[in-house]
Amino acid sequence: MEHRTAPGLFDIIPNDPKESWHNSHLWNFVEATVRSVMKNYGFQEIRTPIFERTELFEKGTGKESDIVTKEMYTFKDKGNRSITLRPEGTPPVLRAFIERKLQSQAPIHKLFYIGPMFRYERPQAGRYRQHHQFGAEAIGNASPEQDAEIIDMLCTIFSKLGLTNLTLHLNSLGNENCRSAFHEALCRFLEPQADKLSADSQRRLKTNPLRILDSKEEQDRKIIVQAPMILDFLDKESHEHFEGVKKRLDSLGIAYEVDPLLVRGLDYYNKTVFEITSGELGAQNSVGGGGRYDGLMKQLGGPDLPTMGFACGLERVIQTLIKQEVPYPESPKPTVFMIGLGDKAYDRCFSLLHDLRQEGVSAQMDFTGKKLSKVMQYAHNLGARYTMVIGDTELEQEAVDVKEMESGESQKIQLEEVIRFFKRKELREEPLHEMIHVLMENIVNLLGGLPGGGTEGVLQFLQNLVLGSQKRDYSQNGEPEDEDND
Ligand code: HAM
Repeated sequence: MEHRTAPGLFDIIPNDPKESWHNSHLWNFVEATVRSVMKNYGFQEIRTPIFERTELFEKGTGKESDIVTKEMYTFKDKGNRSITLRPEGTPPVLRAFIERKLQSQAPIHKLFYIGPMFRYERPQAGRYRQHHQFGAEAIGNASPEQDAEIIDMLCTIFSKLGLTNLTLHLNSLGNENCRSAFHEALCRFLEPQADKLSADSQRRLKTNPLRILDSKEEQDRKIIVQAPMILDFLDKESHEHFEGVKKRLDSLGIAYEVDPLLVRGLDYYNKTVFEITSGELGAQNSVGGGGRYDGLMKQLGGPDLPTMGFACGLERVIQTLIKQEVPYPESPKPTVFMIGLGDKAYDRCFSLLHDLRQEGVSAQMDFTGKKLSKVMQYAHNLGARYTMVIGDTELEQEAVDVKEMESGESQKIQLEEVIRFFKRKELREEPLHEMIHVLMENIVNLLGGLPGGGTEGVLQFLQNLVLGSQKRDYSQNGEPEDEDND
């Protein structure tokens, strides 16, 4: 029997010759860029479970949203609870914030996440049943600067990735007061011509008329262009907030298009909403979007805190990157590939392999025992920079020929020097790291080492400090209470 992925799913694998956007190193590159920018903006990672109780999304995402009415993967677990695979990250983040009482730790929280989301949509290019999002939620600040910071952070991620040809669409949905006045005016305008609207919009007229504004149906669009505009209904507070956001974006040189028809497909937004589209993606052109959703925390039973965030589809970001032929790092290649000939040399190679890796050198070794020519071909296909064949002669002489694969040139290295040799090669991959290392070696030698840890310890400490790889504090704030009664 042939097993295949269910429709709308895909695998992320080291190398997919047909669909390069499936390549895992590309995902690693984008995720690393996201993490690095989020860190600079002061956002910390949150990981919530992949499934939640269904009512969280019914309440959070909104009963009238397409996600809740049509797209959720909902099932009963063995304890007869209704469970839903998360279709989006925002309600789970707020649930975790409330449940873990994070507001008691600090007044403001800036959280980010990267992970899979599940929506039962009709699969097509750019639309999947399991897709991946990176997103951020800023909790506790109501200022226009917070909105601008979120948008600026997303634009920075895109520019660090090298993406161009993106459009930022911006709108304000106002606060509740202006929303209800607008709602009335919109219904008054649409109801007399309801029979000319598409079936979907006729249904929405009863459930969520605002969503009619972003209908893509030609017959709806003819009517919508004449419809009243939300921006004409903003009260003083909402108007000033929107002007504040635009002023901040202008001051950062971030271009945007005010799009009064942008309403977003989720029920929780108020005031600022935005979306970023790519000219390269066809029908599913939204790479990311978000906005302010100030009432949601309270609605979910938490403190009344203002909230602003966004999420982006990783698939669409990566597909845009490829379509725009943006240069991205190659998949990782081993620095050295070793071959041990004869029992003794094989044993020595095996321990050298371990020692090289302990020192941070990317090393591999042949475990197949196949013919030398075949193994060399394999090392070449892997993209190894150097190869090293160790046999009885090399052991006797305590020296080995190290062959650079690209030039075909070899040089003899003492076996005891091999680790040092490759460590330097590995470091030279990153010229800045090499420079910092040499600089620190000199500083530490000058100081003659400091107490506690010796020269190596100080060196390691300084290196971690500069290269940003300090150990993080993972201390916990108490275990959750167990309310399960299976
Ligand atoms: P969303 O617009 O529903 O917003 O999704 C965010 C992004 O996820 C979209 O712009 C798109 O790139 C990607 N996406 C959504 N569905 C799919 C799919 N089926 N296949 C591929 N990509 C998809 C939210 O989810 C909100 N939680 C964003 C937010 C956070 N608002 C405030 N905070």
